[in-house]
Amino acid sequence: MSVKQRIFARPPAPGPVEFDERFEAWVASRHADVRRILSDHGAFSSDELTHGAHPAPHHDNPVLRSLPSLDPPRHHELRRLVARVFTPRAVSALRPSIAETARKLLAEGSGEVVDGFASPLTVATLAGLLGISPERGSDFVRWTVTISEFAGANAADPVRQARFHQDLAELRSCLREVVAKPRGGMIPDLAAALDESELFDLVTTLIVMGHETTTRLIYHAVLCLERFPAAPTPGLVEEVLRYLPPVGGTERFTTTRVDVDGVTLPPGARVMTSIRRANRDPVVFAAPDAFDATRDPNPHLSFGTGIHVCLGLRLAATQAAVAIRALREAFPGRWHVPEDGLQATISPVGLDIQRMRLITR
Ligand code: HEM
Repeated sequence: MSVKQRIFARPPAPGPVEFDERFEAWVASRHADVRRILSDHGAFSSDELTHGAHPAPHHDNPVLRSLPSLDPPRHHELRRLVARVFTPRAVSALRPSIAETARKLLAEGSGEVVDGFASPLTVATLAGLLGISPERGSDFVRWTVTISEFAGANAADPVRQARFHQDLAELRSCLREVVAKPRGGMIPDLAAALDESELFDLVTTLIVMGHETTTRLIYHAVLCLERFPAAPTPGLVEEVLRYLPPVGGTERFTTTRVDVDGVTLPPGARVMTSIRRANRDPVVFAAPDAFDATRDPNPHLSFGTGIHVCLGLRLAATQAAVAIRALREAFPGRWHVPEDGLQATISPVGLDIQRMRLITR
């Protein structure tokens, strides 16, 4: 099977909640079950450190101590604080600079989509949002990779542990510099309301959650447009999100004995919600395996739902729309992504492309 065939292979049909040895977790895949689990934060907590049955080897990971992993009331306090600075207006204000960076990268580039375009574009956007120097771009990428990979069994590996602590120390010192000499962006406002460790955990979370996800959305859009070249622009980003979600699933931990559609889960159970499979649920989506940018509504779950719904969804969608427009201008006509330049890691939870080239046919 070619890389592209594997990328576009149909995910298993949604079914009842069941235990999966590979993830050591209960997996929910029906749209209604995923929605319910993500919405019921009382029974399904995001706080692994408090509710996980086993101690997490990755407990030092700042993402586990910040917004996505907190329950109310602290979650609400922190979310309100970030929402005050991360406004739709702040996101709209970034649009011209995103467009300018996109054009510049394409003018300089050779058609390499990941390292030459999508990744530096999302780094530059996050750097602008936070007020970090764009020259730290390659450090940014290294930090996000190290931190995102420091999860599950990986966190027990001494080599990864050393790299993780080294990269966190670098990121911490970069943030100290930004706080001492602010150059615009959100960090000064956040620093005024948080202590240093909370600020560090939050900013790290924004970097980690904002970079790879949006990079993936952009290259997924490139792949979808190669396969479905007639797709109209309005609705395109939402359908790419549904069809190839950048985040394949997210976890919760039961706080009590709880029933999901007839299956009883014990307290402390790890529950993986499969966004990828829920997005193809025939109960909710007509012809779920067809790529149809005209779907309206398109209630995909790619940004989650409930209190933890993605804080950066507007920013991500804006970047993807701007990126696609710039790519269409730079590569008019039919696109081709050659198989020989495509390097990807495909797992049951997601797709990670390291190299991808785009040419006009
Ligand atoms: C295509 C791009 C993106 C996708 C697919 C995505 C996906 C998600 C998902 C699925 C969640 C919910 C996680 C859960 O419930 O466990 C989430 C939450 C979050 N996302 Fe995004 N995200 C994207 C871009 C961004 C960006 C650009 C930022 C910030 C710069 C961001 C920041 C966050 C934060 C802070 C949360 C946690 C919110 C909370 O717990 O209240 N995301 N994202």
